[in-house]
Amino acid sequence: MKVLVVGSGGREHALVWKISQSAAGAKIYCAPGNAGIAEQAELVPIGADQIEKISEFAARAKVDLTVVGPELPLTLGIVDLFESRGLKIFGPDRAAARLEGSKVFAKELLAENGIPTAPFRVFEDEARARAYLEARPLPCVVKADGLAAGKGVMVCTSAAEAKAAVEQLMVQRVFGSAGETIIVEDFLEGEEASFMALVDGENYLPLASSQDHKRAFDGDRGPNTGGMGAYSPAPILSRDAEERVAKEILKPLMRGLTKRGIRYRGVLYIGLMVTADGPKVLEFNCRFGDPECQAVVMRLEDDLLSLFEATIAGRLDQARASWSDEAAACVVLCAGGYPGPFEKGKPIKGLEKLKGRDKVAVFHAGTAFAGGQWLTAGGRVLGVTARGASLSDALAEAYRAVAEIEWEGMHYRRDIGWRALK
Ligand code: AMP
Ligand code: GLY
Repeated sequence: MKVLVVGSGGREHALVWKISQSAAGAKIYCAPGNAGIAEQAELVPIGADQIEKISEFAARAKVDLTVVGPELPLTLGIVDLFESRGLKIFGPDRAAARLEGSKVFAKELLAENGIPTAPFRVFEDEARARAYLEARPLPCVVKADGLAAGKGVMVCTSAAEAKAAVEQLMVQRVFGSAGETIIVEDFLEGEEASFMALVDGENYLPLASSQDHKRAFDGDRGPNTGGMGAYSPAPILSRDAEERVAKEILKPLMRGLTKRGIRYRGVLYIGLMVTADGPKVLEFNCRFGDPECQAVVMRLEDDLLSLFEATIAGRLDQARASWSDEAAACVVLCAGGYPGPFEKGKPIKGLEKLKGRDKVAVFHAGTAFAGGQWLTAGGRVLGVTARGASLSDALAEAYRAVAEIEWEGMHYRRDIGWRALK
């Protein structure tokens, strides 16, 4: 069997790693991948957004199954393109990927189906947005409608900040057309958690719960990032909370999508705020979370490819996923400067010492290999992921591995998992 994974981050490395362990003994390609992924897959030098070229490659190489990591190719319609060519692919089509591609679409669907989320208003006009903000309680949240590389959300604690957010999105257009339309919503108090499920259009299969750490520095301070670390399971998602997510969010969402003639097949990521009145939706992603995926796949005891196949075939009602009783934790190591402009090309020391550690996997997010050494090549560089009998054991194992790695300017959070441990 030939499998192609699209993308180049830690998430894609984790997917490739897990697929490479599958019984199917698959030949794995990754487009474009990264230097770490090259140890388990053949790299194909095509960018993840070059969807035409990717589909030509998949047809030529007779790839049996393509798995898409990031959101951009999904929102560009890579699934529609593959399916029109009779090629098998895992991920939502363009219409379904709008759940992530347009926050307005997502919020309208939530409101239409009575799904718990923050009260909101949509604006296409800057003056109206400002006028509305005058009368809103603080803090409030201003969001660009379209994709903005995870940076289009601004939590504003003063009226001046809220006005500046509207100005940046709608007038300066810092995220281009993503800010043509904006959402202003109420701030939700609570603890965040990530809930991912495989969805086949009719059935869903929840994946293990996880929690991400979005802020750059310890104690959840500093700017937002793509994610500085994750762990699974997330105790905040108790059995009761998970049941509420299924009943109050997933089921009505699936009905709402069907009513609109949309068939969602792939991973659905629900960014939740667990509030005093229960879980509420902050956002949807149409893909695996990164780094959540790294922690979650470390605990999966079943064959990932079979789960993808069952999703595509609409057979999730017959599928099961079993999870290790062990916890998993991922610590993301970043380049100096990240999440701002960051340095590249710094030699990474210590990686070879971590080979063969049973409970540790080092997923590469932004590395290169040249002149016989590993070099940094991205903002998030490595995801050091470990399993352990408890979350504290998993974290201790991950941080022991982190202590072996070093490069100039490397930084990371030292408090991954703090909410679960407190
Ligand atoms: P989003 O991309 O919509 O998930 O937003 C990014 C981050 O902004 C979330 O992970 C939250 O930390 C924060 N956020 C977004 N919406 C809200 C809200 N209504 N209340 C509180 N925090 C929010
Ligand atoms: N870690 C959050 C995300 O993947 O969007």
